[in-house]
Amino acid sequence: MPASSSTTETPPRLAVLISGAGSNMLAIARACAAGSIPARISAVISDVPTAGGIARARELGLATVVIDRRAYRRAGAADRAGFETALAAALEASGAEYVVLAGFLRVLSAGFVSRYAGRMLNIHPSLLPRHKGLDTHARALAAGDVEHGVSVHFVTAELDGGPLVAQSAVPVLAGDTVASLSARVHALEHMLYPMVIQLLTSGRLQWNDGRPTLDGAPLSAPLRVQ
Ligand code: GRF
Repeated sequence: MPASSSTTETPPRLAVLISGAGSNMLAIARACAAGSIPARISAVISDVPTAGGIARARELGLATVVIDRRAYRRAGAADRAGFETALAAALEASGAEYVVLAGFLRVLSAGFVSRYAGRMLNIHPSLLPRHKGLDTHARALAAGDVEHGVSVHFVTAELDGGPLVAQSAVPVLAGDTVASLSARVHALEHMLYPMVIQLLTSGRLQWNDGRPTLDGAPLSAPLRVQ
């Protein structure tokens, strides 16, 4: 479904993919409920049955789907194709036009992400391209970074490598621990992700020829939001 359908009277549908606590999902759900994101959450989907975010989504009355990653193994290895077939079916059934990854700890194949090109975002807890992958707060501390933060980007087949849309930074303070730094970055995430999703679902943020545009103009650098 084209992104332009967000201009119709029916709010576009948004699926949120999680694997964990779901605090970003909650921030997105609140922004949808408040009308600051012009979309409605059609499904919260988790690959982990015990993810705290699934319970939180149920409490909010949101539709939830669990696609247990452990059920998709073949000959001792992850059956990514089988998992993605189930995920595609769940997204299709929910009618999602947009997909946002919010702490979703699965790498999706090139074929899968291409179906949602320009309609799928990820949030990553570092100032990309620094610290792709896991344990970003510990790695920022170990590297002696003076600044750390969060990035939102369009999803491509490259892990944490799609075109950047927006970033927010915090200074790394003397005495910071993984817990203290992660708490400050999480607070930024809850502000930044709903803001970018608002831009996307309102049609202001688009993806043209692999490049993000805002109000029709190419984004020459990620938006820096403080
Ligand atoms: C966040 O730090 C997000 O940037 C990363 O995973 C974490 C998810 O946290 N991709 P939560 O489940 O939204 O609380």
